[in-house]
Amino acid sequence: MTNSGIEIHKGLNGVYFDRSDSCFIDGGIGKLLYRGYDIHDLAEKSTFEEVVYLLLYGKLPTIPELSAFDNDLRSNRELPSGVLDVIEAVKNAHPMDVLRTAVSALSAFDEDVDDNSTEAIIRKGIRLTAQAPTIVASHHRIRNGKSPVKPNSRLNHAGNFLNMLLDKEPTAEESRILDVDFILHAEHGSNASAFAARVTASTVSDLHSAVVTGIGTLKGPLHGGAAEAVQKMAEAVGTPENAAAYVKNILDNKGRIMGFGHRVYKAEDPRARHLAERSESLGAERGEPHWFQILTGIQEAMKPYQSRGIYVNVDFFAGSIYYLLGIPEDIFVPIFALGRVPGWALNVIEQSSNNMLIRPLTEYTGPFDVEYVPIEDRES
Ligand SMILES: CC(C)(COP(=O)(O)OP(=O)(O)OC[C@H]1O[C@@H](n2cnc3c(N)ncnc32)[C@H](O)[C@@H]1OP(=O)(O)O)[C@@H](O)C(=O)NCCC(=O)NCCS
Repeated sequence: MTNSGIEIHKGLNGVYFDRSDSCFIDGGIGKLLYRGYDIHDLAEKSTFEEVVYLLLYGKLPTIPELSAFDNDLRSNRELPSGVLDVIEAVKNAHPMDVLRTAVSALSAFDEDVDDNSTEAIIRKGIRLTAQAPTIVASHHRIRNGKSPVKPNSRLNHAGNFLNMLLDKEPTAEESRILDVDFILHAEHGSNASAFAARVTASTVSDLHSAVVTGIGTLKGPLHGGAAEAVQKMAEAVGTPENAAAYVKNILDNKGRIMGFGHRVYKAEDPRARHLAERSESLGAERGEPHWFQILTGIQEAMKPYQSRGIYVNVDFFAGSIYYLLGIPEDIFVPIFALGRVPGWALNVIEQSSNNMLIRPLTEYTGPFDVEYVPIEDRES
C-alpha cells in the first residue's frame, strides 16, 4: 500500500482478472488440468493432436472427429511462397524472431484474418498450429543454404516437424518424446505470453496479431527462454561432480539457476517429471547419460531451496531432450512456441467470447505542472 492508499500488485502477482474454464493450476500441490483432464493422463495416454482438439473444442474427440481434425492439421502444413521469401530475407535473425516475423507474414495470406468469430479463430488456430513447425524447420534449412524439406502427411505432427528440421525420418520413440513435450507445453493458464495475447485480443485485434504478441513475450529467459539457458548451464557444469560447486557459486553471487522456480508452482511442476523420465532414458540410449546426471546433480544442490518453494520447472529437463534429439540450441524456445500455439488460440477464444478491454493502471510518481521552457532557453 502506498501513501496515496493505492495498492500496487507488482507483476500482477496474485491478481485474478477473469474466469476461465480451460486450465486449472494448483501451484501449492503441483496440479495441472487442461479442460478438467489431468496433465499426467494426457502426457501418458493422449497425443498432441488430441490435446489440441480438446483445447479448441473443450471435449475429447471421437475416433471420426479426431481423424477429420488430424487430416485438417496435416493438410495445412504448407507455407505460401511469399512467407518462404520473408524467411529467406530475415534468415540471419534468431529463430524465435524469424518465427514471430513469419507468423505475422502469414496473416497476409489468411482468408479469415479479420474474422473474430469463434469458428474462424478455431480455423486459424488449426492453420497456425500446422504451419508454425514448417516455419521453424524451413528457416533452419534455409539458413544453412539448403531447401526446406516438404511436409510429409504420412507423419504425425511431432514426427513431421523432426523430419522437416533434421531431414531424417524420426523413430517412433523420438516422435513420441516430442509429442509428449508438445502436450506439456500446450497450455498454461494466464502465463505471461497468454496474458499478452489476451491483451491484444481484448482490443478486438486478430489471432495472428495475438500469436505474434505471444511469441514476442515467450522469448524472454524468464519465460520460454530457460530451456536453452539450462542446456548452456549443463555444458558449463561439465560433470556431475561439479554441479554442487557451480550452483553454490551462482547463488553466492545472487544469480539464478535457470529451470528452477515458478510464479505459480511452489511445489513440483507436474510437467517436469515426464521430461525427466525421457531425459534419462534418451540419454542412456544415446550413450550420453551424463546430461541427466549433471541435471540431477544441480537438482540435488538446489534441494535447500525447496523450503522456499523453488523446484524444477518444465524447462529444466527439456533442453537435454532437445539436445539429444539433435536439435540446435537456438531452436529450443521456438519448440516451446510450437507447442503453445493452441494455448494462445484458446486464450484468444476465451477473451473474444466475453471480451472487455484489458487496461490496468499505474500510479503516477512523477512531477506535476512542470514549466515548459523553449529549447533555446534551456541550460546545456
Ligand atoms: C520464473 C521466475 C521468474 C518466477 O519468479 P517470481 O515468482 O517472479 O519470483 P521472484 O523472481 O520474485 O523470486 C522470489 C525469490 O526466489 C528467488 N528465486 C526465484 N527463482 C530462482 C532461481 N531460479 N534460482 C535462484 N533463486 C531463485 C529469487 O532470487 C527471490 O529471492 P529473494 O526473495 O531473496 O529476492 C523465477 O523463478 C526465475 O527467474 N526462474 C529462473 C528462470 C526460469 O527457469 N524460467 C522459466 C519459468 S517456466
